[in-house]
Amino acid sequence: MFNVQSIRKDFPMLQGKTMQNKPLIYLDNSATTLKPKQVINAVVDYYENYSANAHRGDYDLSYYVDQRYEGARKNIANFLNADTHEIVYTSGASAALNLVAFGYGSYKLSKGDIILTSEAEHASCVLPWMKVAQDTGAILDYIPLDNGRITIENVKKKLNAQVKVIVLAHITNVLGYEVPIKKICELAHAQGAVVVVDGAQSVAHMPIDVKALDCDFFAFSGHKMCAPTGIGVLYGKHELLEEMQPALLGGDSNARFDMCGNIQLKNAPYKFESGTQPIEAVFGLDAAVQYLTSIGMENIHTYEKELHTYAIEKLQKLNNIILYNADNDSGIITFNVKDVFAQDAASFFNANGIAVRSGQHCAKLLNEYLQTSATIRASIYFYTTKEEIDKFVEVCAQANMENCLNIYF
Ligand code: ALA
Repeated sequence: MFNVQSIRKDFPMLQGKTMQNKPLIYLDNSATTLKPKQVINAVVDYYENYSANAHRGDYDLSYYVDQRYEGARKNIANFLNADTHEIVYTSGASAALNLVAFGYGSYKLSKGDIILTSEAEHASCVLPWMKVAQDTGAILDYIPLDNGRITIENVKKKLNAQVKVIVLAHITNVLGYEVPIKKICELAHAQGAVVVVDGAQSVAHMPIDVKALDCDFFAFSGHKMCAPTGIGVLYGKHELLEEMQPALLGGDSNARFDMCGNIQLKNAPYKFESGTQPIEAVFGLDAAVQYLTSIGMENIHTYEKELHTYAIEKLQKLNNIILYNADNDSGIITFNVKDVFAQDAASFFNANGIAVRSGQHCAKLLNEYLQTSATIRASIYFYTTKEEIDKFVEVCAQANMENCLNIYF
């Protein structure tokens, strides 16, 4: 049974915290989520009870760490319906997306090849491929948006035999629209292109099955799914990971090397994991995956959709709120207050104890499309309550130029 009040007891940050002397209402979950005690305990447990390195020791403690560390990889693989050797630990989604661009794109693309992305993407989906395009002579092109969405019709307009890579978010981080990845993969593969998916905004909110999607790469961060910062994952089809080059070379990623410069790398995923990894964060991610699984990803998805509908119906009744994505498929609500600059409005929410993000949200191409210099983003998670939404809507109703500026005096 999904019970939000009992879930909230797991989160220390939801126990009576205040901001500006008001009860904290945390609506910045697309930037990072709060952490349950199960995850915090997993991190502390490592430091207190079995602090040793992984893959390097010949003693019991280190062997135990190895077992846990590789066990986590297996649990994460199961969570995504992937195989264990297709899970690469990275420092986050950005590192994972960069690894594909520079470890795959740089070697595979050449002059005239096309990389497709869109204006709705996060910088980590676009900037690495801009550099790859500059370095290889490939062309970066954009799938046009249709009312903020990526549609199959528009993908078809851009797809041809020259397209070698498509890089898109599964759920875009500002507008929160779900992209039809499965169908895009089908079309891309028929043309010989690979599909790189930024799953940072989807993996925490809905069930993910990479085999059913048939995507070639899927990247995400731990900290947006209840896990610690500093850990993320790149899923890649194993044959593609084996073709890829690592971005870093160093300890633990090689089997042997000699003074003539011969380097024999380990097989994927280990060839991508040079240096000591954030072991405690891996254990935190493992705990987060188990925690989310115990709640049920389908339950989380259903609850967030209900809460989103509840919030949108209320917000649509307010004349002072401009909504940019009322019809989206996620818990991301992007809006502005009429006649108030987004960051001033965000300060007004802060003065009322409400954490939202304002600005361009790392998706700087989108503002021209939306015809605004900045927006406010409120993003919910499965621990958000209807009462918090009511308070948020009440503060939205009070937001006007006078009230927003009054907080400075
Ligand atoms: N990428 C994160 C966001 O969208 C930080 O807010």
